[in-house]
Amino acid sequence: MFFMSRIIMGTVILSCYSGNPFFILIALMKAKVSVIGAGNVGATTAHLVLQSGLADVVLFDIAEGIPQGKALDLTEAAPLWNVATTCHGTNDYADTARSDVIVITAGFPRKPGMSRDDLLHANADVIKKVVLETAKLSPDGIFIVVTNPMDIMTYVAWKVSGLSPQRVMGMGGILDAARFRTFISMELGISPEDIEAIVLGGHGDLMVPMTQYTTVKGIPLDEFINKERISNLIHRTKNGGAEIVSYLKTGSAFYAPAASTFQMVKAILLDEKRILPCSAYVDGGYGIKDLFIGVPVKLGRAGVQEIIELKLNDDEKMLFHKSAASIKMLLKKIS
Ligand code: NAI
Ligand code: 2OP
Repeated sequence: MFFMSRIIMGTVILSCYSGNPFFILIALMKAKVSVIGAGNVGATTAHLVLQSGLADVVLFDIAEGIPQGKALDLTEAAPLWNVATTCHGTNDYADTARSDVIVITAGFPRKPGMSRDDLLHANADVIKKVVLETAKLSPDGIFIVVTNPMDIMTYVAWKVSGLSPQRVMGMGGILDAARFRTFISMELGISPEDIEAIVLGGHGDLMVPMTQYTTVKGIPLDEFINKERISNLIHRTKNGGAEIVSYLKTGSAFYAPAASTFQMVKAILLDEKRILPCSAYVDGGYGIKDLFIGVPVKLGRAGVQEIIELKLNDDEKMLFHKSAASIKMLLKKIS
């Protein structure tokens, strides 16, 4: 299916460019990514995908004019990025048909007077609608859920889609790990590129930054700084989202979230088989049953190809299970 659609597209472009091998190659390789929700995270993710040249993007939103305007603006940037990707803005789900990857960022932010539970129910309704509409149009698609509360929304998306759990996942751990790496880099004055970190658990206050698996060029973090400084960095990481909201006031972070989402899209489209912390379906591993929660996974063209089970010490196990219990509790509220 994937290759058939590339070949059909290739044939059409081939007839337009009279056999130029460059265009044939691009046409055969370019994929289709649909981004649902043309707000801050959605539009910035679309930007990164388009600029990479890896895929054309369909930008969908219920707000009329917004996806169309942003898509045209993004497409007009393509000549400056030296890429041949295009963005199509739409309010019609039909345009998302035969997507390779569907990124869901649609939803409501928390408004004054709205409880977390109100947000949970409102966004669950959005996710149900979006997944029902898109899953039937893209039977071979892979779904990445970004909308909060993300681990719960990913579970809802999986249930509604009827897809195998390998093809539905959530973005959270990459962002949380990027924040942890950034704060370590700022503390040590060392490039974040040389810092490896893993954050497990739900994307929320109970996330578990994994100190024992955090290294600076392979050297354990605790050889550089003491426990107290590490615990300050962990505290800042857990509050990373709230810290940005306290500055922005009317919205939440979107540049790093979009960069994290793009890393997942790229790993899938290029079948990179990268080990990345994602919210994946865990049913037995880590002593957890029937839950989407942040764990390291091998990510490639087939989606979540493997869940990597890390050895946790007693403290980490306790924190991971506490995080899982809080996801379970929210899931119960919407079941
Ligand atoms: P935003 O408010 O800028 O964009 C949301 C968009 O969704 C709006 O354009 C709105 O019109 C659209 N929308 C609402 N209902 C829709 C529906 N039924 N169908 C299609 N579109 C619909 O919000 P932003 O900043 O882009 O964040 C999006 C979501 O991602 C939020 O839930 C936010 O909390 C979450 N988020 C999650 C992160 C993570 O690490 N998992 C990181 C950052 C944000
Ligand atoms: C963040 O961590 C709001 O989940 C979002 O920035």
